[in-house]
Amino acid sequence: MEKFAKLTELVSAGGCAAKIGPGDLQQILSGLAIETAPDLLVGLDPADDAAVYRLNDDTAIIQTLDFFTPIVDDPFLFGQIAAANALSDVYAMGGRPLLAMNIFAFPCGLGAGTLRAVLEGGASKVKEAGALIVGGHSLEDKEPKYGLSVCGLVHPDRLITGAGAKPGDYLILTKPLGLGILTTALRGRVVDEAGIGGPLAEAIELNRAAAEAMAAAGANAATDVTGFGLAGHLLQMLNASGVSARLEAASLPVWPQAVELADKYQPGGTKRNADHFGGQTLLTSAVAQALKPLIFDPQTSGGLLISVAEDRLEGLLAELRSRSVSTAAVVGRIGPAAGDPRLIIE
Ligand code: CO
Ligand code: CO
Ligand code: CO
Repeated sequence: MEKFAKLTELVSAGGCAAKIGPGDLQQILSGLAIETAPDLLVGLDPADDAAVYRLNDDTAIIQTLDFFTPIVDDPFLFGQIAAANALSDVYAMGGRPLLAMNIFAFPCGLGAGTLRAVLEGGASKVKEAGALIVGGHSLEDKEPKYGLSVCGLVHPDRLITGAGAKPGDYLILTKPLGLGILTTALRGRVVDEAGIGGPLAEAIELNRAAAEAMAAAGANAATDVTGFGLAGHLLQMLNASGVSARLEAASLPVWPQAVELADKYQPGGTKRNADHFGGQTLLTSAVAQALKPLIFDPQTSGGLLISVAEDRLEGLLAELRSRSVSTAAVVGRIGPAAGDPRLIIE
């Protein structure tokens, strides 16, 4: 038997922290022609990670794609996290996944068993989502990468985007922050996978129940919190909706271990996020300052951030509870249009 490197040792950055930074991405995309069409309900809008196209009055398709490098060594677990993360962009729009295709790039030397375990992990989450894997594409690559392109369905009238937040809305977050810090500590061999079992179990949790609760209760806007961190994804929502927000740092759900490790184990993406979104963000309290590494921490398969009208808040919380969504933290409120800093965390 050959001995192979651990998955996370083959990559220079893990998970959504491996994303191109928001500033660089803006530069790359700035010259591109943006196509529009009457039935294209969501295109290259920066607040949304998926595109939505209306087929008829009752049906729109959601198309999305997400893949990244391993954040854990266990190949089955990596497959599960990557698939839950890719499916999440459909859930964030209130949709239901229908079909998925694998995107798979691995060093062949890792061995068929390891590679199959990644695909099996992904397939298990796609099956749980009630969707079908119908193909994919693979290549050999020194740095492993895995993810899915997902096609989902939504009723055009029940589509939820990042552009609908309204002043007075409450903001709800459905998973704790800090996975980027924890998986950076994992790469540093400071913790092992068993030691961060709770956060990893949450990372493989589908955002399906949260999406169903949102559809049942009615929400004005939503996004999933991934590589740009809480502040980045919220700011994309604020900018698209033309509103501001105030969060209460003490109400943010965080992994306690991540708070402990935050000084020493920040992924590279944290600084990129803070550099890019920091000018729009003001941290006014000592608590908010202390949580800065978590506020900008790139999440992989993070929770939904939901903007809900005041008169629907209790209904949404009840729907989340009845579906056993373990985290449903009311973290702040939407305010009127404002100049920068339009995101204030106190
Ligand atoms: Co995405
Ligand atoms: Co997303
Ligand atoms: Co092909």
